[in-house]
Amino acid sequence: MSFPEPLPPLEQIPAYLQTIADYEQQAQKHLPENSWHYLQGGAMSEISVTENLTQFQQIQLIPRHLNDLRQGNTRCEILGQTFPHPVFLAPIGHQALFHPQAEQASALAAGVLQSNLILSTLTNTDLTAMPPENLHKWFQLYWQGDRSSSLALVRLAEQHQYKALVITIDAPHSGIRDRERRVFFRLPENMQHPHSPPMPLPEIQHNQHPLFDGLMQIAPRWDDIQWLVENTHLPVVLKGVLHPGDAERAIQYGVKGLIISNHGGRVLDTTISPLKALYHIQQLAPTGFPLLLDGGIRRGSDIFKAIALGASAVLIGRPYIYGLAVAGALGVAHVIRILKEEFEITMALMGTPTIKEISKHYISHNFTL
Ligand SMILES: Cc1cc2nc3c(=O)[nH]c(=O)nc-3n(C[C@H](O)[C@H](O)[C@H](O)COP(=O)(O)O)c2cc1C
Repeated sequence: MSFPEPLPPLEQIPAYLQTIADYEQQAQKHLPENSWHYLQGGAMSEISVTENLTQFQQIQLIPRHLNDLRQGNTRCEILGQTFPHPVFLAPIGHQALFHPQAEQASALAAGVLQSNLILSTLTNTDLTAMPPENLHKWFQLYWQGDRSSSLALVRLAEQHQYKALVITIDAPHSGIRDRERRVFFRLPENMQHPHSPPMPLPEIQHNQHPLFDGLMQIAPRWDDIQWLVENTHLPVVLKGVLHPGDAERAIQYGVKGLIISNHGGRVLDTTISPLKALYHIQQLAPTGFPLLLDGGIRRGSDIFKAIALGASAVLIGRPYIYGLAVAGALGVAHVIRILKEEFEITMALMGTPTIKEISKHYISHNFTL
């Protein structure tokens, strides 16, 4: 089947775009075939991609009625920072694939909707050029192969008022994404990547293993995390944690928050679902320790369920990129607004006026291992 010519981004939001699912459908019309598969695809059989969506159906809501909701709000406090709502923008690389204004458009929307933008190392826009001034922003670090190159990037983020460092630890190698291979997905040659210069790989001798003696030689390890925690004044958050043992170790090493995530199902297929991992990690984390979750958030009720299981906030990935592809900053802002509004109304219908009141007592699930 041939893919039609992509439509240009919209300048107004039509009434038929009401949900994240509507945006998903529309986004495909605005993207070339290979960018679409890059965005949508997941690792191998894409079982985790699907399960990230269906995991929320395994939880049922148990609303309580007649509570006093008059002082309600969606405020949350994480790492000493106050956010008006818990919908954050996940780090997504190469946003110029989806709209010419790329990360600038996402940042603009995040600023207007007061969301927290987590800027990827693989950004096409320089981290020093993130409008507006009052934007909540964290920087996501991909390890740069060695300590000094990684620290140079951390220093740049510190100097430009990024308020936390998110280190993604679940992708020492990229996932096997069959869809991308089928369409020969390649990044455009002239694409700008101001913070991710090509990393030189160790030279492989004929008796050495190309992966374990190659890329895995420059992948980060626990002692690098410990070292980074000691060498930055920014709070360090690890992204991609699923194993309770890793969560425990991170906390011991002074990490200040965790993002429970399987990278949107893009790296390793058939992982434990992020919600189930959250359920188990939440039981060992100290009270109030920031646990964020991403993967499959498409409705405000999904946000409620994640918070009920112990999340402090959630990240959205593909949903805001659908908005970006459809209508640039306007589309991203609309996507955030849809989720925020759905979440607020869910809170009201559940009888929970504030995030603090959302708890496991409002849900039913069977998440034993
Ligand atoms: C196109 C694309 C690019 C991504 N790039 C990054 C990245 O640069 N760094 C990172 O930590 N995660 C990256 N992720 C993972 C997201 O941060 C997030 O974990 C995931 O998208 C959440 O799932 P969702 O898309 O279902 O919301 C990317 C995801 C997608 C879909």
